[in-house]
Amino acid sequence: MSGFRACGDVVRFRLLNRSLFLVAHPRDARRVLQDHANQYDKGTRGFRVLRVFLRNGLLTSEGAYWLRQRRIMQPAFHRDRTAGFGDTMTSAAGDLVDDWLRSPSETVNVTADMMRLTLRIVGETLLSTDVSQEADRVGRALHTMLRGANEAIGRVVPMPAWWPSRANRVQRAAMRTLDDVILEIIASRRTSAGLAGSMTRASDDDLLSMLMEARDEETGEGMSDAQLRDEVMTIFLAGHETTAIALGWTWHLLAAHPSVRQRLERELDHALGGRPPTMADLPRLGYVDQVVKESMRLYPPAWVVSRRPMSEDVVGGCRIPAGAIVLTSPYVTHRHPKFWANPERFDPDRFDPTRPVERPPFAYFPFGGGPRQCIGNTFAMMELVLVVSAIAQRCRLDATDRREIGGDPAITLRAATPITMRVSRRAGAPA
Ligand code: HEM
Repeated sequence: MSGFRACGDVVRFRLLNRSLFLVAHPRDARRVLQDHANQYDKGTRGFRVLRVFLRNGLLTSEGAYWLRQRRIMQPAFHRDRTAGFGDTMTSAAGDLVDDWLRSPSETVNVTADMMRLTLRIVGETLLSTDVSQEADRVGRALHTMLRGANEAIGRVVPMPAWWPSRANRVQRAAMRTLDDVILEIIASRRTSAGLAGSMTRASDDDLLSMLMEARDEETGEGMSDAQLRDEVMTIFLAGHETTAIALGWTWHLLAAHPSVRQRLERELDHALGGRPPTMADLPRLGYVDQVVKESMRLYPPAWVVSRRPMSEDVVGGCRIPAGAIVLTSPYVTHRHPKFWANPERFDPDRFDPTRPVERPPFAYFPFGGGPRQCIGNTFAMMELVLVVSAIAQRCRLDATDRREIGGDPAITLRAATPITMRVSRRAGAPA
């Protein structure tokens, strides 16, 4: 990286002979992602890499095709439809706590356990698969794919996907595994739908069945198997890695801030009285919601959202030529001192709804914004609040050492080293 040049709130730098513009001001992020969104596309290296894996899924597709898919899929992510997934989320978290408490004082790898937990949740809510059998195969293949994507992004000289290297062979095998599993499930759903005239009972309400039933309002058309496969793969990937990362950072921050943790535990004891949390409890779990939001302010899992202007634009007074790369960054904007007092401090009261602070739109945008805003944001917030509640209600996670853990900014903002913690049962907590 060379040639940093500040231009107000826009920082320009050159990387591998390309001009990159990092925009920090919320007004500029809003221009790129929302107000002038149709002037920008996703032709950046990050999305090109992801496209190899996710093909034409919602995250990577563009133009009229993307719009049609978004219209078809939007209703499946409506709060009323995803509300039914709440019990799956809390019972998966409950099983993890059971595992942990079977051997108390054990040190656990929170990073790996959160990844497994969110993978189980997305597997059950999306495909109703028997994840205890499939998780390893699917999970391994997904992680191979994600590792490949992260490595490809970090490579100085891009390696074409057709190159007969070992890494590419491993990637292709992982993709074949996922394709096979997903297409098999779709085929068996189509057969059972044909036979019984409806989806199988157990999978009636999962996301895949919602996507299979969804129709374009204008044309009445549904999705083909290949389209469904791309969307399932996308949701699998977009829907578990980010949430796991948010959970990992949240445990890290709670352990480092005992007074915040105590207040959160008091809320849980008061709101739940020892019962596992349900969707109906969400309005009483306001402080958990604040903690999760503040955690994603400091460590937004999608720390950068890139775009490419299709024609010249002027952003924050800076002329940006067509074809350059524009990086909007929740990580940078969430720490902008003009909008966040004492920005490095972990303070969930920033999100206290009874003490609202005037901030411009896009001062906080962990889920992106504009037309491409995360379709799973309500699903994710529900999952984060329920999982944090179900776990913190019963046990405490304490850091095994006091070293500062840094972020490893690749496609997502993982912790640079795995977060390991000691688990203990909370005194007086439900068994
Ligand atoms: C804490 C968790 C999550 C974070 C931080 C997050 C963040 C984001 C961001 C920033 C975008 C916008 C990308 C862009 O504009 O280029 C996005 C898009 C997307 N997310 Fe999420 N996400 C999360 C959870 C989920 C979940 C749970 C699902 C699905 C169940 C999901 C599915 C998607 C999809 C399909 C898109 C593409 C939407 C479109 O372009 O129309 N995400 N996410």
